[in-house]
Amino acid sequence: MANENSASSTSDNMQGRVCLVTGATTGIGRETALGLAKRGATVAIIGRNPQKVTTTVAELIAITGNQNIEGLVADLSSQAEIHRVSAEFLEKHDRLHVLVNNAGAIFFTRRETVDGLEYTFALDHLAYFLLTNLLLDTLKASATPDRNARIISVSSMAHNGAKIKFDDLQSKTSYSPMGAYGQAKLANILFTYELARRLMGTNVTANTLHPGVVSTGFAMNNLGGVIRSAVQLAIRPFLISAEQGARTSIYLATSPEVEGITGEYFDKCKPVRSSAASYDEATAKRLWEVSEQLVGLTATV
Ligand SMILES: NC(=O)c1ccc[n+]([C@@H]2O[C@H](COP(=O)([O-])OP(=O)(O)OC[C@H]3O[C@@H](n4cnc5c(N)ncnc54)[C@H](OP(=O)(O)O)[C@@H]3O)[C@@H](O)[C@H]2O)c1
Repeated sequence: MANENSASSTSDNMQGRVCLVTGATTGIGRETALGLAKRGATVAIIGRNPQKVTTTVAELIAITGNQNIEGLVADLSSQAEIHRVSAEFLEKHDRLHVLVNNAGAIFFTRRETVDGLEYTFALDHLAYFLLTNLLLDTLKASATPDRNARIISVSSMAHNGAKIKFDDLQSKTSYSPMGAYGQAKLANILFTYELARRLMGTNVTANTLHPGVVSTGFAMNNLGGVIRSAVQLAIRPFLISAEQGARTSIYLATSPEVEGITGEYFDKCKPVRSSAASYDEATAKRLWEVSEQLVGLTATV
């Protein structure tokens, strides 16, 4: 989908651009923040562990020499925390040019958040939905016809074969880790396509992506120390590095080639087809409305 209001810029230089990356204390998010900082952006990262956030910010500054890197702490499974951290961001910044919704996880057993929601659905989908909506006015105000503001949501090829179980969104009747994860990653794509439709005529674009199968700490939160090391050793040869896994996120955040491109799913920096289920506009609209109710928002875009 091409956004008609856009013209192209010619460089991926990010001087003067304000970017926010969630889940940037490790893995793909950290490499994404690093790539943006290297290009001169002001980068705010969100992580849930204060010590890790402080260390990551110091490391990113040391590597890039870019002093405009800052850390915010929030557990994004909690809606109150998302409200607090977005307010904290907006107190400091009246501009936001790039939002990268990246923090996500898979859980081998069913858990609930402080809001009483299934954890995967809350963290991997509702956090993207709520944070984006809370920052949308600022994204719109920061966008211009020749340089759009960009919303990037990290999904996964694990969305293939998944469906949105509106009769059991919180997986109360039956839970499987891949079922819950696949549903949430399909939700990322439905959300992005619906968001792009709703943002048509503005200068804000929304795209989503599969980062590859990446060697990170992903899923390791479920495993004990020895098993974790054994699994990591066994699967590492089949995985790409976190730096490679961040390339599509960085491309979507920075490249002039995607100026004005919206409502697309990318893999290896190319737009590709997502699953048939992800193009169902009725499902996307219904998911949007249910998500609004679950996060208690009445006036979204
Ligand atoms: N790795 C893959 O092969 C792969 C494939 C497809 C899609 N993805 C997607 O890529 C994204 C990043 O995954 P990754 O592989 O980089 O995972 P990762 O190494 O586990 O990193 C996840 C990041 O999210 C943060 N996070 C987790 N729970 C959080 C919470 N409740 N509140 C705030 N931050 C939280 C983590 O913080 P801590 O440092 O505190 O843990 C970490 O910074 C996810 O959306 C995932 O679904 C990954």
